[in-house]
Amino acid sequence: MKMIEFTSYETLSAHAADLIAAQVLLKPNAVLGLATGSTPEGTYAELVKKYEAGRLSFADVTTFNLDEYCGIDPTHDQSYRYFMNKHLFSKVNVDMARTHVPSGTADNVEEECARYEQAIAAAGGIDLQLLGLGVNGHIGFNEPADDFPVDTHKVTLHESTIDANSRFFASRDEVPTHAVTMGLGSIMRAKKVLLLAFGDNKVDIVKRAFLGPVTPDVPASVLQLHPDVTVLWGK
Ligand code: F6R
Repeated sequence: MKMIEFTSYETLSAHAADLIAAQVLLKPNAVLGLATGSTPEGTYAELVKKYEAGRLSFADVTTFNLDEYCGIDPTHDQSYRYFMNKHLFSKVNVDMARTHVPSGTADNVEEECARYEQAIAAAGGIDLQLLGLGVNGHIGFNEPADDFPVDTHKVTLHESTIDANSRFFASRDEVPTHAVTMGLGSIMRAKKVLLLAFGDNKVDIVKRAFLGPVTPDVPASVLQLHPDVTVLWGK
C-alpha cells in the first residue's frame, strides 16, 4: 500500500486525475470503477480539463459506479447517476452506453445486484477502482458490520452515513435509508485501487483503516490485503 499525504485538496485532486489519466492513456479501453461524494469532485474537474485540452479521451472507456441510493430515480438531483452525468459523463466523450450505475429502483433488487456483478465480469473486471472513505470507514456503502460483505448487495445505511449525507438534501428526512453497493469482494477484485480522503474529519479514520487492524468494523481496512492500493490523503 502506498500512502501519499497532501496539504491541499487541489494538489490531491490533480494527482488523482494524473493517475486515472495514466491508466486510460496506457489502456484506452480501461474499465474504471468510479465513486461519488464530495471528495472526487475535484478529480473529475481535473479529468474534464485534460479532456478539454485534448490530452485524454474517454471514447473507449467503460465505467462502473460503486453505488446508488434506493428509492430515488436517476433524474433526482441527489442520485448518483445524476451526479456522474453532471460532474463527468456529460463533459467528456464517454459513450453513455458504457457507463454503469447500479439501479436503486429495480423491482427485484437481488436480480439487479447479480446483473451488476455479471456486467463487471463481462467487461473484463475493473482496472482501476476510485474510492472515497466514509467517516465510519465505509467504502462504497459497505458499512461497519460483523463480516465483510462480498458481492453487490442492498444495504441499510448507518445513522452516521445518513447524517453525513444529509448536507446534500433539503432535510435529513429526505436522505434515503437504503442503497445498492458493490461489495468488498467486488472492490477487492479490481486490479488497482485509488482511495481519496481529505479533511480534518477523515484523518482518524485514515489511520484506523490503513494503520490499524483489518476488521469488518472498519470496512476500508480490508484494502490492506489488496496488492495495489494507493491512498491519497491529507487535511
Ligand atoms: C460514494 C461512496 C461513499 C463515499 C464516502 C465519502 O460513491 O461510495 O463511500 O465515497 O461516503 O463521501 P465524501 O467524499 O462525500 O466524504
